[in-house]
Amino acid sequence: MATLEVRRIPFEFGDDVPFVWNPRNVAFSTFMNVVSVYAVAFEQMIVAAVREAIPLIADDDVAQEAKDFLRQEAQHSACHRRHLKSLVCHYPGLQQTFDDVIASFEEITDTKPLNYRLAYIADLEATFTPFFKLLLDNEDVLFRTGDDRVSSLLLWHFVEEVEHRSSALVIYDAVVHDDWYRVRVLPSIARHLLAAARIVADGMNEHVPFAERGMNAHDIKPALSMRTALLSRIPGLKPATVPVQPALGEVPWRQKITSGVRVLLSQTPFHNPEKEPLPAFAEIWFERYRRGDDVAHWYGGLAARSGTT
Ligand SMILES: [Fe+2]
Ligand SMILES: [Fe+2]
Repeated sequence: MATLEVRRIPFEFGDDVPFVWNPRNVAFSTFMNVVSVYAVAFEQMIVAAVREAIPLIADDDVAQEAKDFLRQEAQHSACHRRHLKSLVCHYPGLQQTFDDVIASFEEITDTKPLNYRLAYIADLEATFTPFFKLLLDNEDVLFRTGDDRVSSLLLWHFVEEVEHRSSALVIYDAVVHDDWYRVRVLPSIARHLLAAARIVADGMNEHVPFAERGMNAHDIKPALSMRTALLSRIPGLKPATVPVQPALGEVPWRQKITSGVRVLLSQTPFHNPEKEPLPAFAEIWFERYRRGDDVAHWYGGLAARSGTT
């Protein structure tokens, strides 16, 4: 069983966090803003489902992991909520969008059986380690040039997702006892995730002026990113016909393909997250946290440290 630490990091966002928090990569900024919305809504659903599951778990160690897992997720949800609050300061219309996404996950909590919700959580969480490894392995190009507050929030969240990579499946296995059920409900889960993504993208397009958003929020979809990558390779094509640079445009294709394959494998019935390759960055993060460094300002803290040594 994993031993999880619940970390309360004092993230503060003020009221000046830009929508495009990493001007070097508009699409990645938008993509991660969408992740912030999902983090609040999905992780609120996790807390409700895992609370319901705990009394059904016979093994004390698994029950303890479930409690720590939900405490970590509750922290993620609360900190991302602070990030969203800062965006709402500038774009008040986004509040309705965020409320709509939260409501769409609350509807799952209210209408779907516990087994379905545990499968949803296990399926989605299983994708996180291979996908977040891709992001953390490219931390220098994706996060370093961004707003330190937002970058630090995301880095913390992603390393803790790697830390509790097995928890959702362990809980699912303890309650559901059907390795194939989570595969069978995958299409319905994917439909819900896509519907929620449409709500977020529509809301961002409606409530954030194009001049401050820099792209159609729908263009962060992987298929559209692929189209952009292909269009950008056609010699002589007018730049206006090529949408904004894809969020992961600077990430090597080999790594993207490996990550994509591992994400697909994570949905197979006997997937074991403990065997996943891990991002080296996670250990660096945990080491700095253990030393007491200011992980709420990861790069600022890094600059301060190198300035004093
Ligand atoms: Fe999380
Ligand atoms: Fe998680």
